[in-house]
Amino acid sequence: MADKSMEGLNDFTAKAESKVDSSRKLRVAIIGCGWIAGSHIKSYLAQPDVEIVAGADLIPGKAAAFFAKYGVEGVKTDYANDEELIADKSLNLDAVSICTYNRQHAPCAIHALDAGLNVLLEKPFTVTLDEAVEVMRAEKRSGKVISIGFQPRLDANMQKIKEIVQSGVLGDIYYIQTGGGRRRGIPTPFGTTFIEDETAGLGALGDIGCYSLDMVLNAIGYPKPLTVTGYKSAFFGKDPNYCGYRADKRAEYAKKFGVDDFAAAFIRLEGGIILDFRIAWAMNLDTPGDTIILGTKGGLRIPSTECWNGTVGGPMKIYHEVCGQQVETEIPVIKMNQGLFDLKIRSFLDAVKNGTKAPVPTSQILYNQAIIDGIAKSAECGREVEIEIPEI
Ligand SMILES: NC(=O)c1ccc[n+]([C@@H]2O[C@H](COP(=O)([O-])OP(=O)(O)OC[C@H]3O[C@@H](n4cnc5c(N)ncnc54)[C@H](O)[C@@H]3O)[C@@H](O)[C@H]2O)c1
Repeated sequence: MADKSMEGLNDFTAKAESKVDSSRKLRVAIIGCGWIAGSHIKSYLAQPDVEIVAGADLIPGKAAAFFAKYGVEGVKTDYANDEELIADKSLNLDAVSICTYNRQHAPCAIHALDAGLNVLLEKPFTVTLDEAVEVMRAEKRSGKVISIGFQPRLDANMQKIKEIVQSGVLGDIYYIQTGGGRRRGIPTPFGTTFIEDETAGLGALGDIGCYSLDMVLNAIGYPKPLTVTGYKSAFFGKDPNYCGYRADKRAEYAKKFGVDDFAAAFIRLEGGIILDFRIAWAMNLDTPGDTIILGTKGGLRIPSTECWNGTVGGPMKIYHEVCGQQVETEIPVIKMNQGLFDLKIRSFLDAVKNGTKAPVPTSQILYNQAIIDGIAKSAECGREVEIEIPEI
């Protein structure tokens, strides 16, 4: 099967003119100093060619406390929001990590790109397809690198899935089942930014659904999505007796819950491929099933993980036929000896330094976002919708 991922899509990053003088350190800022920013800073600190010079958060004092916690001194943090930081030309920034909650992905990315900065944007790309399109228009205007934070792509097991599909051993792919979930796993470790509509905009669908979609879409070369029938629900998140919440916060969190905790969809992709998808932050089951990729010559089973943790849940298996005999080939789990976050930060920095293609380009993730957007829209109107992607 041909890898379409680099063909036909709006691949602006190929034109990035971001080459940086390699003799100096890259000057980086962190926008949004919450939970995931901790992983970004640890990985930046492990790089020899980076200087973290600034950070911003909407909550007064949060950025300063964040850098103090990680023992990073001399970082400017007296900004009320991303725009103030980006406007501070004295910082001479090369790049920003955008670690804000989902609803603030698009505005922050557009501000940064329009100011000529390279961007590492956390997943999901955006909340809506229209926002993703606006970010890509800013990317086109700026010619800078923007990479989306899908670190599982750097896992050797995920890369093996793509290698298997691209090798042709499965033949032509016609059906994929993917997704994943948790029995009780609505994320509220640091408050409610994941579950309130005004900050998150998407629940399980965007938070972990985007990973499951990327795993298979990247493997098959990101064909264009055509139509989607979607469903979403929130039976657990809105329940004041939901045992996954802290006992003293159940009533408050249930009231604030404004997104989905389960989503399912049936998606038609270009090339006659059917994608069957389900994702759960909470459900009365251990797993909604393994990921399976069915092809004309072979089928691949990818064991699911307990929750979406960015790798495979055990050895993968190819079901095929050799000389008239039905056989199974086991693909052992590959052990990673480098952290995925370190690889994510390094691959972004290399793209910035060398002015090369973003490791996870928007041109691919646009289709991921289009599917998420289609599921949300179809769930709202209760019927199949056509996916229409505006001109960038
Ligand atoms: N790649 C991963 O493994 C991974 C893991 C967890 C979360 N995430 C993603 O990271 C994002 C953030 O998640 P989190 O758990 O860190 O959330 P969080 O709520 O802990 O932190 C987000 C912070 O951004 C700040 N913020 C929002 N808008 C801002 C703005 N315009 N300017 C400055 N600061 C702003 C908020 O005040 C908040 O402190 C989410 O989109 C999430 O999906 C990715």
